[in-house]
Amino acid sequence: VKDAGVLAMDIYFPPNCVLQEELETHDGVSKGKYTIGLGQDSMAFCTEVEDVISMSLTVVKTLLKNYNIDPKCIGRLEVGSETVIDKSKSIKTWLMQIFEECGNTDIEGVDSSNACYGGTAALFNCVNWVESNSWDGRYGLVVCTDSAVYAEGPARPTGGAAAIAMLIGPNAPISLESKFRGSHMAHVYDFYKPDLASEYPVVDGKLSQTCYLMALDSCYKTFCKRYEKIEGKPFSIVDADSFVFHSPYNKLVQKSFARLYYNDFLRNCSIVDKDSREKLEPYSGLSSEESYQSRDLEKVCQQVAKPLYDTKVQPTTLIPKQLGNMYTASLYAAFASVVHNKHDALVGQRIVMFSYGSGMTSTMFSFKINEGQHPFSLSNIASILDISNKLESRHVVPPKKFVEALKLMEHRYGAKDFVTSQDTRLLVPGTYYLTHVDSMYRRFYAVK
Ligand code: ACO
Repeated sequence: VKDAGVLAMDIYFPPNCVLQEELETHDGVSKGKYTIGLGQDSMAFCTEVEDVISMSLTVVKTLLKNYNIDPKCIGRLEVGSETVIDKSKSIKTWLMQIFEECGNTDIEGVDSSNACYGGTAALFNCVNWVESNSWDGRYGLVVCTDSAVYAEGPARPTGGAAAIAMLIGPNAPISLESKFRGSHMAHVYDFYKPDLASEYPVVDGKLSQTCYLMALDSCYKTFCKRYEKIEGKPFSIVDADSFVFHSPYNKLVQKSFARLYYNDFLRNCSIVDKDSREKLEPYSGLSSEESYQSRDLEKVCQQVAKPLYDTKVQPTTLIPKQLGNMYTASLYAAFASVVHNKHDALVGQRIVMFSYGSGMTSTMFSFKINEGQHPFSLSNIASILDISNKLESRHVVPPKKFVEALKLMEHRYGAKDFVTSQDTRLLVPGTYYLTHVDSMYRRFYAVK
């Protein structure tokens, strides 16, 4: 099998969003804290008629329709999500409704979950299957679906919601360079969901930022080592055209790329020019522990990395800045942003991806972009993603309504015996929505 990877993609996100600028005023924080401090523009959220199951049903249905894929041609379906609606029944089983209708029940795969990493685990599982002896020639399908909601407080503006579906197979326009990979996995309590009665995580914000950057450093080191071993020359940030990061909020993405630049400086890479080298020199003696705490180092790195950030990272930031953290879908929404922004220029390029899930699991890996064949070409993927239209047709909701929606969902989480408003005015035709949950906790959905 040659060039196994992503053949096609589609994205769905709720039609409601709240502007970060309005949220700043509503929350009474200083002006600029969410927009400049976190680097976010707006945040998508589910109202009581949508959830991770309805979003994933919608995105699977639209992907199959938009690329004209017969549901019988899917042989593996893997879901990544950290939004637990049922502790036993996987989201994958709900999606089977779409395939059962067509007489296809022969589909492997279940859900993967570990914070924001589940989508990457699902992607690796599907690609590995295509490359294995058990592959039967059919497509794999990966679905990342999450609704990120936080309790009131500093983490609340870092929520978001979306679902992404990716069709997997050989001869893909977006293929995995499976040789180049670095993972870092460890036990840490930075963000976790021990309270099964609540959808909200317990989060140590500062620790989670440091864990993320430590994991990034460790993955980058391993990735560089693998690359050098195979290619016989060192890797530095010039060797990739884009860097796509898991994006809880944009400021962390800026810091992450700056951190890769700092790594290249410490490794004496020629990418770091004389001027930048002089600016970074005072920090070359810091221990790695100290380097995570130094605000000055952070600022200098961001400043010297800025020109490269603008070309290699900025085009990846569109959707995450507009929708917020989509947990498992976040990294792939950032990737979809590059496809949207640069689809005619990507062929032949290498795109480095960094996936992070708290707790913690993380991998850096890379995509190679190839000329795909219709309907699996980058320009077709970009037109089906239809990002500009989808973003523009959203409905801006005042913060007060957003807070009310979250309050209602707090009561609905884990509840039984209720009927939703079934208010589907904002949903586009073809969108799945929750109608009711019966006395046995069984959930029912309808299509608009
Ligand atoms: N204008 C401009 N910038 C401002 C302003 C202002 N008025 N006020 C604050 N800022 C800046 C701060 O300087 C800081 O930037 P810096 O880091 O470059 O110095 C930034 O805004 C954030 O301000 P803090 O006071 O550090 O933010 P706070 O502690 O209130 O919360 C946090 C931020 C920790 C990210 C919180 O939102 C959170 O816990 N989020 C969830 C956890 C998370 O997303 N972790 C990331 C990895 S794990 C995961 O993916 C879930």
